[in-house]
Amino acid sequence: MSKALTYLAKARPEAATSLLSFYKHSVQALDDKTRHLIQIVTKVTVGTERGLRQYAPKALKAGATREEILDAVLMAFPAAGLNKVLDAIDIMREMDLLPEVAQDPTTTDPSLHLCAVADLPLQRLHTLQRPTGDLLLYRTDANTVLAYNARCPHSKANLCKGTDHGTQVECRVHNWIFDLASGACLQPTNGKPLQTVATEVRDGQLFLQTAPT
Ligand code: FES
Repeated sequence: MSKALTYLAKARPEAATSLLSFYKHSVQALDDKTRHLIQIVTKVTVGTERGLRQYAPKALKAGATREEILDAVLMAFPAAGLNKVLDAIDIMREMDLLPEVAQDPTTTDPSLHLCAVADLPLQRLHTLQRPTGDLLLYRTDANTVLAYNARCPHSKANLCKGTDHGTQVECRVHNWIFDLASGACLQPTNGKPLQTVATEVRDGQLFLQTAPT
């Protein structure tokens, strides 16, 4: 029971008792799930966020699926109009009460998207210049891409401007040479390796695992 009804039950007990009795006894033929789904339709139509937050979880608890809850929201459209339906969808999504939809991998988070894997040559250096930090990419097979910070671990020169030896890249400043399949420094042999950047491939697209800082 809402706080307002609790207050009314004390302030106007006769009125509140009648009201609560109406709620309790007026609907007898509908099961809980149907009743709560209809409540969703009415709450969307009236535009009451509080009512929606109260009844939508009850519908789920009574056995309604997220698809049915979405249908209930949409059932309100002819009376509620588009704006109230969209507001309700925002609320329902925030409460995790609507079905998940597949994300477009290129729009999940634009700052994480790097490129399509198919655009990368196999076992060849590929440089990617980005405002948040240039990268060296090296595709080892159809679906595996290694990514490295393009800053040379010696003195931070940009290896995007290095000499491309295919499977190796050579820094033009002091001529350190790095193996792209492992990131190891080949020359000098005691040089620091390239810094690895964590990436993942989803639906043929390459993403950073975390947003650049
Ligand atoms: S800065 Fe690259 S080798 Fe020195």
